Amino acid sequence: MRKQVIAGNWKMNMTPSKAVVLAKEIKEKNTAKDKCDIVICVPAIDIPAVYEIVKGTNIKLGAQNVHFAPSGAFTGELSVEMLNESGVEYVIIGHSERRQYFGETDQSVNKRVTAALEGGLKVILCVGELLEEREAGKTTQVVDTQTREALKGISASALKNLIIAYEPVWAIGTGKVATPEQADEVCGIIRNIIADLYSKSAADEFIIQYGGSMNAKNAKELLAMPNIDGGLIGGASLKSDDFTVIIDSAQ
Ligand code: 13P
Repeated sequence: MRKQVIAGNWKMNMTPSKAVVLAKEIKEKNTAKDKCDIVICVPAIDIPAVYEIVKGTNIKLGAQNVHFAPSGAFTGELSVEMLNESGVEYVIIGHSERRQYFGETDQSVNKRVTAALEGGLKVILCVGELLEEREAGKTTQVVDTQTREALKGISASALKNLIIAYEPVWAIGTGKVATPEQADEVCGIIRNIIADLYSKSAADEFIIQYGGSMNAKNAKELLAMPNIDGGLIGGASLKSDDFTVIIDSAQ
């Protein structure tokens, strides 16, 4: 049985003082206990303040990116060690916004995934196609390439610390959610890739999230699909009431 993982991606929202308010609200409203795992991926500058609020609870702290080098001349980047020392357990890697706006490639994603897993972080790896790629019938090809490239050199034993989030780019921040069937189909394709690369049993245990305009209204239906094991939520994770409803929708 796979335990669902509900993760919020706050993106570039919430100053430290606002982050404290939101994290406290999420903590107070959360009654999920062991039903699902809960992660909030906050801006780097919010990490220390949010850590103080969620430490010792079932809400796990996540970052939104990490560099592959242990240290050095990489202005603006954060290392695995920095995140570890700050109480961060999860990190998002390869988000489409990083790929689109910050030149992230399948190769740099692979290096970041490798370093994060080696350093003991849990990784939420994002994959997903653009609208024009879907319309051209290339969804499977795009997701296949992104997944295989990102996982190059990753051992089967590291998979327990890896989640893949299928996030179709056309559904992110647009209010245009994938239908449960569309989302489930691609999550199933990803599961088959894991089976092909590793084993059927590894694929059966592997957590695959859907992300893209998931909200309090549509979460239940999406999370009920057989291949969807959780959500990576942007906009709706910034409102504690909505995020709590999504947590409560986990199976
Ligand atoms: P939205 O939920 O705002 O569409 O964002 C999804 C996302 O990109 C999460 O990483």
